[in-house]
Amino acid sequence: MVLLSSKLFSYVITPIPIRALDCTAMPTSFIITLSVLFLGVSLQTSKALDPFACDPKDGTNRDLPFCQVKLPIQTRVNDLIGRMTLQEKVGLLVNNAAAVPRLGIKGYEWWSEALHGVSNVGPGTKFGGAFPVATSFPQVITTAASFNATLWEAIGRVVSDEARAMFNGGVAGLTYWSPNVNIFRDPRWGRGQETPGEDPVVVGKYAASYVRGLQGSDGIRLKVAACCKHFTAYDLDNWNGVDRFHFNAKVSKQDMVDTFDVPFRMCVKEGKVASVMCSYNQVNGIPTCADPNLLKKTVRGQWRLDGYIVSDCDSVGVYYGQQHYTSTPEEAASDAIKAGK
Ligand SMILES: *[C@@H]1O[C@H](CO)[C@@H](O)[C@H](O)[C@H]1NC(C)=O
Repeated sequence: MVLLSSKLFSYVITPIPIRALDCTAMPTSFIITLSVLFLGVSLQTSKALDPFACDPKDGTNRDLPFCQVKLPIQTRVNDLIGRMTLQEKVGLLVNNAAAVPRLGIKGYEWWSEALHGVSNVGPGTKFGGAFPVATSFPQVITTAASFNATLWEAIGRVVSDEARAMFNGGVAGLTYWSPNVNIFRDPRWGRGQETPGEDPVVVGKYAASYVRGLQGSDGIRLKVAACCKHFTAYDLDNWNGVDRFHFNAKVSKQDMVDTFDVPFRMCVKEGKVASVMCSYNQVNGIPTCADPNLLKKTVRGQWRLDGYIVSDCDSVGVYYGQQHYTSTPEEAASDAIKAGK
């Protein structure tokens, strides 16, 4: 199950059902890289939280190579992976990643949201106590209508200041599954207000600016990790007997390159985003999370994503159970691994 991507190790897991509600971004399966996992400890030391791993108070593990912040990330990742059992690896490949106590690794909830302000839609973030609320900026479609990229980045900075404060206070995560940069082509789609609109270049510019605001732009460390979603051609929820779990978007090569690729390409190449989320739908008959052309060749190969790919909620389960694209759940999981490695 261990596969080497251009720079990083990636895994996938078998999907597990979580809850039957509309989960815009509730992945039960992941193609992740572990480098993000280390960022939480190599950045600020939190007073309120124990460090995520390599707790200096934990004398048994702090001397292991993966705890040595001076070593290159790749060396630390290799060391950690080499120590883990298959079961332990699989346990990390869901949004609510399991702790590995024998290695001093705590559990981590990957799912937090910050579409237009830190939100408690994801289980990684809770309001209350010292953090009763966060700033809620206007819906993205209206912010995009300012056509002001400086403003988009400034909003991202405020959101990540609050996210970092909440993380330090122990009530939020470091990984945010925002922004939504799907092209709003069909006004009958019910989620257009989440997006920066219909123009591929404006949407791409918004993506890169907001992501820079969230992640910080020192080029070395992430303030938080953002995620451009949902890749791709996803702007249909439920129309005329077709829902997003069964939608097969038929997209010409030209439309893919001229329209649907643009926001994601700009997000990865200009915004240097840490994550891309593949969607529920199929594109030209292949579920996006199972398509090596989209994930391996385009997102990792051509755009050089330096980070992790995450499925949308239970989309790997959906292409087995609802789309009947594979005949077994294991095949669905392995298709996703191979598509994103
Ligand atoms: C764009 O937004 C920035 C940051 O809020 C602001 O300083 C600037 O005046 C805005 N530009 C225009 C043309 O409104």
